[in-house]
Amino acid sequence: MICDNIKINENGNLEFAGYDTVELAKKYGTPAYIMDENKIREKCRIYKSAMAEFFGGESMPLFASKSLCFKRIYEIMREENMGIDVVSPGELFTAVKAGFPMERAYFHGNNKTDFDIAFAMDNGIGHFVCDNADELEAINAEAGKRGIKQKIIIRLTPGIDPHTHAKISTGKVDSKFGAAIETGQAKELTEIALSKENITLDGFHCHIGSQIFECEPFCDAAKIMVEYISQIKKDMGYEIKILNLGGGMGVRYVESDPEIDYSANIKRIAEFVKAECEKNDITMPTILMEPGRSIVADSGMTLYTVGGCKEIKGFKNYASIDGGMPDNPRYALYQSDYTVITANKADKPCDYECTIAGRCCESGDLIQEGVKIAKPVRGDIIAVLTTGAYNYAMSSNYNAICKPPVIMLDSEKDYVAVRRETFEDLIKCHK
Ligand code: LLP
Repeated sequence: MICDNIKINENGNLEFAGYDTVELAKKYGTPAYIMDENKIREKCRIYKSAMAEFFGGESMPLFASKSLCFKRIYEIMREENMGIDVVSPGELFTAVKAGFPMERAYFHGNNKTDFDIAFAMDNGIGHFVCDNADELEAINAEAGKRGIKQKIIIRLTPGIDPHTHAKISTGKVDSKFGAAIETGQAKELTEIALSKENITLDGFHCHIGSQIFECEPFCDAAKIMVEYISQIKKDMGYEIKILNLGGGMGVRYVESDPEIDYSANIKRIAEFVKAECEKNDITMPTILMEPGRSIVADSGMTLYTVGGCKEIKGFKNYASIDGGMPDNPRYALYQSDYTVITANKADKPCDYECTIAGRCCESGDLIQEGVKIAKPVRGDIIAVLTTGAYNYAMSSNYNAICKPPVIMLDSEKDYVAVRRETFEDLIKCHK
């Protein structure tokens, strides 16, 4: 199996985190997101300990909560002593409501409104990750009104193309995010930040993309960032304390994806960064990373019930499920790969090729095309694996479909972290 928390049990059913998925489907109904809490904690600890050991000092991971955002997740991140990154006042609000210590929060985004900036300060945000000069002015003005000095780091684009899907690659010069080093805009923004009396510039940030399996793109970006830090030290006599290398380490969605040793990757990147800092004569900064997908993706699975099955002779076989693009838009958006299993026939041969279709009135509403699974019939349970990241977080109410619940599984109990939406929820904002 693609992850060690997945097995086939003695009843021939798919088991996840030690729980029989068919029993869970009966207990909670479908569709449902199920999440392995221990796996989430295990991943946090891998990042935490590897970053402390190999980068040293106060280096730490920030969970990129855009990948999965609900109150319980922020509680788990608090308990695991993680930092977080938030990208909207809504994520920030959710974290505050979960009691997350906001001094460990970094506020991202390429358009923070005046409201967002004030709201973040009201809630004691640790750092803003500043995207552009307009935002810098607005932060400086708001901090001035409050008589505080606001800590920021600046988002830069190092000009790296890690060859992932274009829509999730963000580190190139032509990007809506950050200021490019290559064009001189990074330097301008740095000068402005240093001239503002209500702002403390603590460091720089870059994020090159997502679902990256190799270390090289991270090292390439780190090299450019370290050289930039050194240049700023020479030109402006100012040495920053924090270098945030962003998120983006890949996860295994299908057997053909490589297995990643996150700790070994962090070690390699750390050795590289240390050597670059020495070469460029700067003190090793505190290193931050922002993993999202690699913390929560393989902690999640989605369970569906099969409705209609259709065989179109000479074309395809379809199995329709009771969810689809509203709970997982990733195939429709990015043609993302997923492993699919008929959960109540997990011990049967996977010899039936079919396309898993969602229930929306839209032909593009597919979860996966041409997968081989044990032949499904109406009432069977379909499990789609590795859905912990960017599924619940990207879910919608398209076609007025209620969002599934999020069920947490830990060693002692299974419990509801997010309840299933009701029809009443769908109309609660309507006048
Ligand atoms: N930091 C920043 C600034 C980011 O923009 C992102 C992701 C991350 C961290 C976390 O990256 P991760 O470790 O999760 O790869 N919706 C897309 C992914 C978009 C990622 C956007 N930024 C998907 O479903 O694949």
